Amino acid sequence: MAGDIACIGAGYIGGPTMAVIAKMCPERQVWVVDCDEAKIAAWNSEELPVYEPGLKEVVLACRGRNLFFSTDIAGAIRRCDLIFVGVNTPTKTFGEGAGYASDLQFWEAAARTIAAEANGDKVVIEKSTLPVRTADAMAAVLHTHPEHTFTVLSNPEFLAEGSAIEDLLHPDRVLIGGPETPAGRAAVAALTEVYAAWVPRERILTTNVWSSELSKLAANAMLAQRISSINAFSALCEVTGADVDEVANVLGMDRRIGPHFLKAGPGFGGSCFKKDVLSLVYLCRQFGLTECADYWEGVIRMNERQQRRIVERTVHALFNTLSGKRLALFGFAFKANTGDTRETPALAIARRLLEERAQLVITDPRALPNARRDLAGEAVDFCEDPYRAAEGADAILILTEWAEYRALDWARIYRAMRKPALLFDTRNLFDQAALKALGFRVLAVGKP
Ligand code: UDX
Repeated sequence: MAGDIACIGAGYIGGPTMAVIAKMCPERQVWVVDCDEAKIAAWNSEELPVYEPGLKEVVLACRGRNLFFSTDIAGAIRRCDLIFVGVNTPTKTFGEGAGYASDLQFWEAAARTIAAEANGDKVVIEKSTLPVRTADAMAAVLHTHPEHTFTVLSNPEFLAEGSAIEDLLHPDRVLIGGPETPAGRAAVAALTEVYAAWVPRERILTTNVWSSELSKLAANAMLAQRISSINAFSALCEVTGADVDEVANVLGMDRRIGPHFLKAGPGFGGSCFKKDVLSLVYLCRQFGLTECADYWEGVIRMNERQQRRIVERTVHALFNTLSGKRLALFGFAFKANTGDTRETPALAIARRLLEERAQLVITDPRALPNARRDLAGEAVDFCEDPYRAAEGADAILILTEWAEYRALDWARIYRAMRKPALLFDTRNLFDQAALKALGFRVLAVGKP
């Protein structure tokens, strides 16, 4: 049926995005397909493979009505004329561009499957973040079957984890990049119709394909750059006696700067920022833009420096040795309200603390299963209960800004710790004076 939608890739992007499209476009059938049988089974069960506030409600309302999860990729390609591709594009770990470039093998495999299975003209929509000019390469793969017309659009996703459903329902903007040809314009119009079911038209931006692909990398690089900038100031604050939260507040009230993404902390994590900045660095280098590449690479170096600084300050505060000391890490997720630990600053910090021979105990309300996997083979304790995690600890490091940590009985925690008890609040979650009044020695990022 015309207007039906398929999405290849049932991950963090494909699942929630298609669920929202199915909810807002009840007249369309939406097929989410993936070769991973376990993942599809999970999407069809009570325990969805992705946790997002509000996601389960949307899936339960649409699943079996106009939202289907299946491993039948070929069937979905034949049935639908709009085909999203939301497969992962991790940083390459091998060969040319290793450590920087995106690994496009899953994307290329998806394009080849679409070409092989198509039974008519198809619009193929990039949802995964891809390096600029990938759509060209994909069009070349698709045109190995010239009997059909394939139009490749770029439609990057800007949702953040933990607020995915909200971001999808009320996006700042929807970006659609398409070729400036009659077929391209028709494809852009067809995709615009999908979003126009709930997004005001003035928020649906259309650009050429390259602007769209680059805008996604640029948006993430600008956000990551703000975090590295404020973290660079945090280091300067610590040595000069300025307070980074006060500085951020002043900056944020300048309407030209704005208040968001100015929170100093252990640095950015998550699946996008580092990967996209690395991809941007690679892109710049490929075009011989050495200074541009170095500039953006500085954002990543600053981020890594922040994690090293946190460890150095911890070692210093614990009398220059962690050997045999017990350190409790409160929070392991890369930010609050998610169990995701991809690129989490907590992992880099944990590894360095282990090199210093600290004994670690990790607690987190959602991320312990991932933390266990990330630190498999290391002698680390994991503990659901933060009070138990604190028992006998020399120091607590707050690494994720979980709201529930504010509500803990900190007097009780202090009593359970070895004295002198150190609390390093890397997220600046707490009022330092209140903790000091309980007896803690307190460190914070960017504070005197
Ligand atoms: C991000 C982008 O926001 C999203 O648009 C893009 O599509 C994917 O990447 P996400 O990774 O889910 O989303 O998380 P985000 O909320 O942006 O936070 C990223 C990291 O930056 C986290 O580790 C967070 O703790 C950190 N951060 C964020 C700061 O350290 N300070 C801030 O002020 C804001």
